[in-house]
Amino acid sequence: MKRTLLLTVSLLFSLLLTAAEVPQIGNIPGRRTVSLNGAWNYIVDVQEEGYYDYRMKPTPWGFFRNAKPQDPKDLIEYDFDKSAEMPIPSDWNTRDPRLFFYEGTVWFKKSFRFSPEKGRRTLLYFGAVNYDARVWVNGEEAGHHIGGFTPFNFDVTDLLREGDNFVIVKVDNKRHPEDVPTQIFDWWNYGGITRDVLLVDVAETYIENYSLQLDPKDPGKLHFSVRLDKALPGQRIRLRIPELGIDREAVTGADGTAVLDIPAKPVRWSPSHPKLYAVELSLGGETLRDDIGFRTIETRGRQILLNGEPIFLKGISMHEEKAFGGGRANSTADAATLLDWAKELGCNFVRLAHYPHNEYTVREAERRGILVWSEIPVYWTIAWENPDTYRNAAGQLKDMIARDHNRANVIIWSIANETPHSPQRDRFLGDLAQYAKALDDTRLISMAMEVTSASNYHNKLQDNMNEYVDVVSFNQYIGWYRDVDDAPKMTWEIPYEKPVIVSEFGGGAKAGLHGSKDERWTEEFQENLYLQNTAMLDKIEGLSGTTPWILKDFRSPRRVLDGIQDYYNRKGLVSDDGQKKKAFRVLQQWYKTK
Ligand code: GCU
Repeated sequence: MKRTLLLTVSLLFSLLLTAAEVPQIGNIPGRRTVSLNGAWNYIVDVQEEGYYDYRMKPTPWGFFRNAKPQDPKDLIEYDFDKSAEMPIPSDWNTRDPRLFFYEGTVWFKKSFRFSPEKGRRTLLYFGAVNYDARVWVNGEEAGHHIGGFTPFNFDVTDLLREGDNFVIVKVDNKRHPEDVPTQIFDWWNYGGITRDVLLVDVAETYIENYSLQLDPKDPGKLHFSVRLDKALPGQRIRLRIPELGIDREAVTGADGTAVLDIPAKPVRWSPSHPKLYAVELSLGGETLRDDIGFRTIETRGRQILLNGEPIFLKGISMHEEKAFGGGRANSTADAATLLDWAKELGCNFVRLAHYPHNEYTVREAERRGILVWSEIPVYWTIAWENPDTYRNAAGQLKDMIARDHNRANVIIWSIANETPHSPQRDRFLGDLAQYAKALDDTRLISMAMEVTSASNYHNKLQDNMNEYVDVVSFNQYIGWYRDVDDAPKMTWEIPYEKPVIVSEFGGGAKAGLHGSKDERWTEEFQENLYLQNTAMLDKIEGLSGTTPWILKDFRSPRRVLDGIQDYYNRKGLVSDDGQKKKAFRVLQQWYKTK
């Protein structure tokens, strides 16, 4: 009887409390935040007994209650405070040897003190959690988020209390056919709270997001648009760019948004001069600061124009892995090492594959003058006919753009990688491409396609998706999945009057393994592959760039050759312990000629 009464009371009480996922708040670095990073307790829950009862029904007595025995007779079979700790943000695979291959549920708990302030609200923000996250604050559900690489936040104002609080997160990284990415992908399925966790302090009414960039239709002016967290008219938002002498006011309309078009002639952001301007947005006595670069990006025939000038994108592909030993990269320091290597190669461009990387990497690349291709994980054989899958992909696209749409260095949104041709796939990606354009008309759209027909030595790129993209991009693996001696004989037919990027080429080598250039896995084999491929690329008409696969060896469950791969994909130009392979120099030399 007692238990039922307790349950009824707590369920009724929870109905009074409200928490909800709210649209992603833009410019986190400029917000008033308290970090919840650090040691979190965790419990590995293989059969999810912390969420389901023995009839597989969600239980009201789950781990999210963080219950403690009230009586010596009480039966409670978990205790976060006695469980192990893990530094957050991180992936559990590289933090706990028992979890190296683990795919399932892990519970995390963080206790913290808090003091609510009248008239203020608090959002609980996650930079990313891979893959399925359920979040509770003080035992009350804040919300549920699916998708492993983009930020999300909940308004938890009504769940927080004075003094001691705790947040509990159920993280599940099991793979499913209907997910994005789907069940198979060539990277490690790092699970966990892989990016920052923050409490974000905001006013009762706050600036939810905004965009500020040169107008692609009239680059003599800046186009500014801003959105409040609610549909509130008459709110006065002050926009200042002191260095440009801009000090303007926008007043929101009935929908809580406002726009301004401001004549301006800023110094353009570019790889050689990555100029950022201090920007201030003020509302109701609070000021939000950002650093924004201004540039135009467009195509003309087979050229990509940055600030009206043709540019060749000297790129390299990257996964989001720490430079040494694997594990999710999630800091400026992690980004700095990887981007240093890209700069040493002579790159002005990186393809952040195959999912949105952390914001530190994008902002560090911007400061260093490195252009970015950013991508959602619509990878290989997605469930094209599943509406939930499309909503998931579209949600990740929207969140990727919402986070980075003010980063001058991001020039390409990529909506897919190596997807099989079919009418269902064309419909899915066609809709996604149009959605991307509707969300952001200041950037280019692309996707990494595959060479479809290669009769002997003639390669033709035929893909219906090319009517939707601004830049035609494709992956080719001559020398790895096909004999390198064919490279000089290859001809390429790309029947689209658009710029072309070879978004992947490359081959594997075990660092330190030397031998004949005809012996697979030697550094000499990879070196020759790069020599042959770069010579071949010079013959592709309209080639506007390339992002060879890949900067650094990376963990993959698909690469199991003992003694050579050892669960690493070895196509890196740098090994997983920082050794530069001979092919690194080949690409570096080639980029000097571009
Ligand atoms: C594909 C794919 C990559 C993969 C690479 C490889 O092109 O896009 O994700 O790692 O080939 O086979 O190494």
